[in-house]
Amino acid sequence: MNRSLSPSAIDIAAPAIVQHAGVKEWVARIAELTKPDRIHWCDGSQAEYDRLCEEMVAAGTLRKLNPKLRPNSYLAWSDPTDVARMEDRTFICSESKEDAGPTNNWTDPAEMRGTLHTLFDGCMRGRTMYVVPFSMGPLGSHIAQIGIEITDSPYVAVSMKVMTRMTSKVWEILGKNGEFVPCIHSLGAPLEAGQKDVPWPCNKDQKYIVHFPETREIWSFGSGYGGNALLGKKCLALRIASAMGRDQGWLAEHMLILGVTSPEGKKSYVTAAFPSACGKTNFAMLVPPAAFTGWKVTTIGDDIAWIKPCKDGQLYAINPEAGFFGVAPGTSTKSNPNCMASLKENVIFTNVALTPEGDVWWEGMTDTPPEKLLDWQGQPWTPEIGKKEGRKAAHPNSRFTVPASQCPAIDPEWENPQGVPISAFVFGGRRSNTMPLVTEAFSWTDGVYLAATMGSETTAAATGKVGVVRRDPFAMLPFCGYNMSDYFGHWLKLGRSVSKRPHIFCVNWFRTDANGKFVWPGFGDNMRVLKWIVERCEGKARASETAIGWVPDFADLEWKGLEGFTQEKFDSITTISHDEWHAELAAHDELFATLKTHLPRELSLRRELIHLSLAA
Ligand code: OXD
Ligand code: MN
Repeated sequence: MNRSLSPSAIDIAAPAIVQHAGVKEWVARIAELTKPDRIHWCDGSQAEYDRLCEEMVAAGTLRKLNPKLRPNSYLAWSDPTDVARMEDRTFICSESKEDAGPTNNWTDPAEMRGTLHTLFDGCMRGRTMYVVPFSMGPLGSHIAQIGIEITDSPYVAVSMKVMTRMTSKVWEILGKNGEFVPCIHSLGAPLEAGQKDVPWPCNKDQKYIVHFPETREIWSFGSGYGGNALLGKKCLALRIASAMGRDQGWLAEHMLILGVTSPEGKKSYVTAAFPSACGKTNFAMLVPPAAFTGWKVTTIGDDIAWIKPCKDGQLYAINPEAGFFGVAPGTSTKSNPNCMASLKENVIFTNVALTPEGDVWWEGMTDTPPEKLLDWQGQPWTPEIGKKEGRKAAHPNSRFTVPASQCPAIDPEWENPQGVPISAFVFGGRRSNTMPLVTEAFSWTDGVYLAATMGSETTAAATGKVGVVRRDPFAMLPFCGYNMSDYFGHWLKLGRSVSKRPHIFCVNWFRTDANGKFVWPGFGDNMRVLKWIVERCEGKARASETAIGWVPDFADLEWKGLEGFTQEKFDSITTISHDEWHAELAAHDELFATLKTHLPRELSLRRELIHLSLAA
């Protein structure tokens, strides 16, 4: 290979379909900086996907799974240090520190540009630079956005085909001067002449996931993990899009979207925000219990919603993604049969275990683990080894990447460019105590308060300690691209601007008993709560007033098919304990003290009211 390649020596010519001078100039500039050996302009075709996957099999990045068991599917094992989002390496570089707010890492944009310039200089040496055109949202939808990701990772290029609308048609939509979000990604692992590549290149020492909200740019360095590297997802569709939404009057949210059809044929759409790895994919694909004859739940999206007010006074939502990048452990035919059916073929698995037959396995997939496996680091694993060494076969944040169209429960409207009208917003944290099973906010402002003060026990989706309660407002703590208090203000303002406001609810599936076991059965039985939610929106279901909102009594939920779930159990997950709530309000105070400068007054007032109601 010729190591003396200079940017002028590589072919940077864009295909004829690319008419956008700004794109061509930008790609040339990034190639000049990063110095790849070659450039490939992706067309998003199946042939391209298959070729890149084959190349990655040859390079050892992917293993092809047994085509008889899992057709057209692959398994990647990452570097053990590159397994999750890195919140401490994620930066919001707005012009002013105040605009990033106290919950984001901020660095002066000029300083960060200097750092990035040094890091990216020559970072793609020895590699191919892929230019990935993609649309977040149905092509041409007024809610959709175009992005172009430059990456030196073929794993990222193929994953982007699954997760976004990656197609040459994007160039036609862009025309000569359309707007796009420039996304630059490098593994930060240049190859010197003769240097052998590793299966999962990344930079072990330096990782940067950087957003410039004003110029709508994303730069990511050093990691190949999905949340850090598939830049259409968390970086564009949440951090950059939330800043766009603030400026343009819409919302970019960490929410699933589902449809509920009643036996009478009434269809409602509900969005739900939960922190990472708290069951959004399961809730989005819920199968109602057999006793719920005639009820149906359909899936629009499992992670992100873009929501815009429309002329009819309602809020409409689209799923900007085209695939699911879900957490594998815990997913089974019992917990999520629709998801398991989606995973039959055309899947890229990352960091799950490999069976001797060439299929995949993860904790919770079956009750009994296979007798022997290779674990997510390629080491022999047996149930005995697992027990003895406390070693999991699959990484707790192992993932599947699969086209949404393969989900048997996919909603017929999931690609409707107009979006679907939203009746309810649901917010839920992972709390072993304090938060009741379900609460309906008294008003939009009260709902914003409940969402803003949401707490949740941390999971393996991000690096850091697992299981500690942290405030995760709107499940957006790692994803809001601007000042969190301004974001609360934006929600309050948006609520005032629509005449048919969705109702707001809080749920908690995760309360535990004295032995630390979950009391609520969850999964399909969440339908009991979902039915109450949609019927509250229609003014049909009954509720009782509490200090924090409306709640159902035992008799207000449908219990058919759940024998043994007694009033006593119900009480144990719905009681609002004064002691717990005083501690909870103290935690809200701490959050508000952190956010103080821009915090909307309505929220502090609401806190006082809850305090008074609890005392009454
Ligand atoms: C995700 C996350 O991958 O929230 O969806 O971390
Ligand atoms: Mn998520």
